[in-house]
Amino acid sequence: MHGTIFSLLKRYVQTQYDHSTWVRLLEHSGLTEVEFDHRHVYPDEHMYALVGQAAQMAGVPADELHEKFGEYLVPDLLYMYQKYIQPEWRTLDMLEHTETAMHTRVRAAHEGNRPPVLDVRRVAPDEVFIEYVSPRRMGALAVGIVRGLARYFDEEDRIAVEPLTSENGERVQMRVRLLH
Ligand code: HEM
Repeated sequence: MHGTIFSLLKRYVQTQYDHSTWVRLLEHSGLTEVEFDHRHVYPDEHMYALVGQAAQMAGVPADELHEKFGEYLVPDLLYMYQKYIQPEWRTLDMLEHTETAMHTRVRAAHEGNRPPVLDVRRVAPDEVFIEYVSPRRMGALAVGIVRGLARYFDEEDRIAVEPLTSENGERVQMRVRLLH
């Protein structure tokens, strides 16, 4: 997984908790020797270990932490890739264009990058259907990213995210609607 995601996880833990929590997290995950930076790609297992341990330490389910972290990621991710965002886009438009505008470019930038395949369909002007497919099984992160996008576009109160399958599978479906 992309080093950027690890750097943001580190910042998330440091801001939500504190630096010593991050250090303890590395110790518990057996990763004290690893220095995460945005120029490298790290094994996915490091992410599972860190999120799993963090959830245990915080006393919350790992899915919940993945969702919260997904929400937290959005402003930074969009800042990094802002040149691919059209000014008129809102939450549903961003979702509709994530695969072509973002994930395709992430894949092209580095051969180690493997963002998930998202099949996104605009089934109605106010509804998007998303199928997430990834062996990483990070559907909860996907749900969090959608929530984070709604907040980013100031539509938090109007966007309903409805997972249609378990969030833990390799294939996760969800419906996202704009409420009137
Ligand atoms: C809108 C702007 C977005 C940007 C700039 C972006 C960028 C990225 C990047 C850089 C990664 C890391 C890839 C890697 O480590 O190989 C990633 C992974 C991921 N993205 Fe996106 N993404 C965006 C939107 C979304 C959306 C809307 C969803 C879900 C509906 C999503 C779901 C995920 C998930 C779950 C991962 C973790 C890896 C996996 O599950 O296989 N992303 N994304």
